[in-house]
Parts: sequence; structure tokens; C-alpha cells
Amino acid sequence: MGWLLAVMLVVGCGGGCGDSPSPSEIVGRASEPDASPADTPEPESQPEPERVERVEGPEPESVPEAETPPTKTWPRADERERMVEIALVQWKVTDEATLRAMRQCPRHLFVPEDKRAAAYQNRPLAIGWAQTISQPTVVGEMTAILNLTPKSKVLEIGTGSGYQAAVLAEITPHVFSIEIKEPLATRAAKTLKEVGYTSVTTRFGDGYHGWPEEAPFDAIIVTAAAPHVPPPLIKQLAPGGRLVIPVGPPFARQDLVLVLKDDKGNVQTQSLFPVSFVPFTGSLGKGD
Ligand SMILES: C[S@@+](CC[C@H](N)C(=O)[O-])C[C@H]1O[C@@H](n2cnc3c(N)ncnc32)[C@H](O)[C@@H]1O
Repeated sequence: MGWLLAVMLVVGCGGGCGDSPSPSEIVGRASEPDASPADTPEPESQPEPERVERVEGPEPESVPEAETPPTKTWPRADERERMVEIALVQWKVTDEATLRAMRQCPRHLFVPEDKRAAAYQNRPLAIGWAQTISQPTVVGEMTAILNLTPKSKVLEIGTGSGYQAAVLAEITPHVFSIEIKEPLATRAAKTLKEVGYTSVTTRFGDGYHGWPEEAPFDAIIVTAAAPHVPPPLIKQLAPGGRLVIPVGPPFARQDLVLVLKDDKGNVQTQSLFPVSFVPFTGSLGKGD
């Protein structure tokens, strides 16, 4: 039922859904898919994030109870709550770990300054170099599909802004992420560090080949649309692992595909629902 509703929503929402930027953000995308850094204004430097320490529970009286760890609370929690409500109510995302991660992770610190006001709207936003930060419901859906636990080792292909990696890092400390555009890779690594997601390991390179030195992964998430599922990624999936990837032509509707590897290493794939992502670039295995 949840999937059905998701399919209806994605199909029915025109060009502003999935990972398609809205028309005002589409400049340089279809006709100029690979805008060079020189064409794109340099993002302004990330200000020191505001942190508010909050201690849950009643004030200790005489003998303190076992201490509750302080919880970091970022500004704009109300907007995140509304964003999560959309994921819960409209998209039927029920995975508690995902919802908690999205309530916690400060999306506004992963977008360029001039986009911060719109950071909690349910739409993708341009992040420079003709790329986007994905729509929050898509981030939530894809994260939930991975069934993560704090022990999961996860590989992301397409670091982009670093937001999806940060959401993953709210659930597990074992996150690895690869980005093919060097300026984005550099900026995302800096943002992740500054915002406090120091457990995420990032790399600049072509994610088609995965990260063999760190394999196997319990989960792999690809955030750009590929014409096929890269075989190296299937190889690097652990037994019992899950891989989620948009598969289909560039600048058109694609299918979000789930690849499951069972404990014996058998692989099954299923199409979940239509999406629209920016293209997977790089070698695509040609010349390997
Ligand atoms: C939709 S954006 C990613 C959004 C990102 N996950 C976030 O949270 O901001 C897709 C990203 O995939 C990257 N990409 C495309 N092909 C790639 C490849 N072969 N290897 C690694 N990254 C790739 C793009 O440069 C782009 O940054």
C-alpha cells in the first residue's frame, strides 16, 4: 500500500519531484549537463553551526539517576518535524531509525547559503556544478529501504552535498561515500567535518568501481541514475545485503531498483517505483 501510494505520488507530481530541480534550478542541467566550476559561483564558506545542548529528563535532585547523554539539537527543529511528517503521513515511511535521523540531521547546513530558507521544503535543491541535493522524501525512502542498524557498513555513490551521508551516519558510524566531481567531494568532506559527522569517510573518484578495499558492504545506495546496476557494486554487497539504485536513461523517468543478495550470494532485483535523478557519469565500466 505504501509503495502504491509512493508510485502514485511520484508519477503524479510532474517535473518538481524526485531529483529533478525546479525550473529555476534547472539552469545548466539538460542543455549544459556538466557546468564547470568556473561557471558556478563558489559556495560561501560554511559558518560555524549553532549547537544547543539539551539534557533530557528531570533535573537531578539529591542522588542523580544514571545520566542521560546530552542530545544535540540543531536550530529549525520544527521545520524538520514538518518535513518528517510529510515522510510519515504522505509517503508512509515508517522506519523509526530513518525518521529519527531525518529529524536530527540539519539539512540547511548542507545547502548553499542562498538556498537555506528552502532547505526543509520537500524538493531537491541545486548545489552547484549542475547537481542537486535530493528531495527529503526520496532521501527518507531510500534510507528506509536499506534496513540499517548501527552495525551496518554502508557505501554511498554520489556524495553531492554530503546530506544523505550525514543521514546515514545518524544511524551507523560505518559510512563510506564517493563523489566523482572533485569540488563537490572537497566541499562535502569539509561540511561533514564541520557539522560533526566525523565518522563518514569520503573519497573523490568514480563510484562505478565501488570501494573494494572496504568491501563487503551491508548496504549500498547510489544517488545518480545509471543505465545498469554496476557489477562491481553487486560484487561488493555482503550476503544478506541490500543495494538501492535509480536505473534508466538520463533526464527521464527511471526506476528505483532494489538489489537483494541472499546469504548464499544469490541476487534478486525488483523495481520499486519511478524516480528522476541526475545522471551517473564516469566510465560506466567502459574500457575495464
Ligand atoms: C543527486 S546528486 C547526490 C545527492 C547527494 N546524495 C546529497 O545528499 O546531496 C548525485 C551525485 O552523484 C554524483 N555522481 C554521478 N556519477 C557518479 C559516479 N560515477 N561516481 C560518484 N559520484 C557520481 C554527482 O556528481 C552528484 O553529486
